[in-house]
Amino acid sequence: MLLQVRDNGPGITPELVPRIFERFIRGDAARTRTEGSTGLGLSIVSAVVAAHHGKVDVTSRPGETVFSIWLPRRQSAPGPSAPAAPYDPRVPV
Ligand SMILES: Nc1ncnc2c1ncn2[C@@H]1O[C@H](COP(=O)(O)OP(=O)(O)OP(=O)(O)O)[C@@H](O)[C@H]1O
Ligand SMILES: [Mg+2]
Repeated sequence: MLLQVRDNGPGITPELVPRIFERFIRGDAARTRTEGSTGLGLSIVSAVVAAHHGKVDVTSRPGETVFSIWLPRRQSAPGPSAPAAPYDPRVPV
């Protein structure tokens, strides 16, 4: 499955792009903790996608930034588990 998020903002500077998924990376000094920016958002995205064995990437130029997330299809689910035995108060659990 491919999920894409696109915006038409100013874009990400080319020097920042290779490091954009690192923790605490912020684009400019104006984005500070007190302004509500932790620099963690995209690193969390990257970690969650990796946990699902997916891939995340970004392309950016002034006027168009596209984040792409590929997620693999679910592996074939394990077979149904045995149905639980009916409750019998005489059987210790
Ligand atoms: N769509 C975008 N367009 C331009 N720059 C971006 C975009 N998304 C992220 N960035 C840049 O990448 C940096 C890191 O983004 P990230 O989401 O990891 O942290 P943040 O947005 O600063 O903080 P938080 O997600 O905690 O609010 C941002 O500070 C910003 O400079
Ligand atoms: Mg963010």
